[in-house]
Amino acid sequence: MIHRVCFVCLGNICRSPSAEAVLRHLVAQRRDHQQWLIDSCGTGDWHVGNPADSRALAALRQRGYASQHRARQLADDDYQRFQWLLAMDDANIAEINARRPADASARIAKLSDWDPLGSKAVADPYYGGEDGFRQVLELIERSCAAFLNQEYPL
Ligand code: 4NP
Repeated sequence: MIHRVCFVCLGNICRSPSAEAVLRHLVAQRRDHQQWLIDSCGTGDWHVGNPADSRALAALRQRGYASQHRARQLADDDYQRFQWLLAMDDANIAEINARRPADASARIAKLSDWDPLGSKAVADPYYGGEDGFRQVLELIERSCAAFLNQEYPL
């Protein structure tokens, strides 16, 4: 049984590739690490094919993560390929629900639902400063760890 998780944000260059990198890192330490498919995508298409934003990559590197991801847009078959579509904010959720095919099987939720500190969203850091990227990464780390512990306990 493969566990299949895809993170979704707007541009797929800041938040969702960061969450993908963090979950990959956490899962790599589990004995079932070969049973995971982890990916990310964006509802928008502006950055398709691009690597993650240099500020997101710098924040990841500082905390020991790496991302090889290239941006791609949310596709119809993502709703079947993945068991979880984990969005970053309510706008992502609205967009994911609006495009949901009739045969969709994925569960749709916000990653911040698992934040032990009770955050309501992973806010877009794109137009902010470096501090925003660090805070976003900390929120993602807390939420991904809790998601794994609660949904896939060892
Ligand atoms: P992301 O951030 O959704 O976390 O990847 C954004 C990146 C780019 C844009 C918006 C959000 N943009 O409008 O280009």
